[in-house]
Amino acid sequence: MSKVVAIMSVSLDGFVADADDGVAEVFDWYLRSGDVEFHTGGSDPMTFRVSGPSAGHLRDLWSELGAVLTGRRTFEVAHGWGGNHAWGPAFVLTHQVPEGWPRPGSTVHFVTDGIESAVTRARAAAAGKSVGVHGADTIQQCLNAGLLDEIHVDIAAVLLGSGVRLFDRLAGTPLVLGSPAVIPGVGVTHLRYPVPKA
Ligand SMILES: NC(=O)c1ccc[n+]([C@@H]2O[C@H](COP(=O)([O-])OP(=O)(O)OC[C@H]3O[C@@H](n4cnc5c(N)ncnc54)[C@H](OP(=O)(O)O)[C@@H]3O)[C@@H](O)[C@H]2O)c1
Repeated sequence: MSKVVAIMSVSLDGFVADADDGVAEVFDWYLRSGDVEFHTGGSDPMTFRVSGPSAGHLRDLWSELGAVLTGRRTFEVAHGWGGNHAWGPAFVLTHQVPEGWPRPGSTVHFVTDGIESAVTRARAAAAGKSVGVHGADTIQQCLNAGLLDEIHVDIAAVLLGSGVRLFDRLAGTPLVLGSPAVIPGVGVTHLRYPVPKA
C-alpha cells in the first residue's frame, strides 16, 4: 500500500515559513547549496542547484512519490503549481473550492470532506507510490489521525524566530518516533523518521 510521507523544509527552530508565509530562508538550500542541477518537472517547473548528497536524496525521494496532499494555504502560496504538481495528482483540503477551479487539464483536486477522505483519494491516485504531504496544518491532522507513515524534514541551517510552526496542535504526545535516516547536505540536513502505528 502507498506510504503517506510528510515532506517539509523547516528551520532549526521549527518553522516552515515566516510570519508572512515566506519560505525564502527555509528553501534557500534548494536554490544555492551546490552546483548539481535538479529539474522538478510539473507545469510550473524549476531548476534546483544543490550539493551531490542533496541531489541524490531528492532523486530517490521524488521517484518514490505518486501524489501530493496539502491544504488550501499551500495551494494559494504556490499559485496552484500551474495546474499540475511535479509529484503527481494533487489533493487540496479546503472548506470551499476556489473560484475558477478545477481547471481543464489540471490534476489538482479539492477535498471538502475531511482528512481521511483526502488521504484515501490521494493514496488511490498514487497507485502504489507514496503520497507526499505538504503544509503544516495538513501534516498535523494526518499525525493526529494516525495516517502518517513517515516524517521527512529538511532542516535548513537557519533560525527564523517566528512564523508557521510545523508541529503545533498535536494530540497524543509524547509520540516516540523511529530512528531517522540522516543525509548531511550543505546548509541543510535531511532526516527521515518512521512514525510508529498505534
Ligand atoms: N517549508 C516547506 O517545505 C513548506 C511547504 C509547503 C508550504 N509551506 C508553507 O506552509 C504554510 C501553509 O501551511 P499551513 O499549515 O498554514 O496550511 P495548509 O495545511 O497548507 O492549509 C491549511 C488550510 O487548508 C484548509 N483545510 C485544512 N484542513 C482542512 C479540512 N480538514 N477540511 C477543510 N479544509 C481544510 C483550510 O483552508 P480553508 O478554510 O481556507 O479552505 C486551512 O486553513 C505557508 O506559509 C506555506 O508557505 C512550507
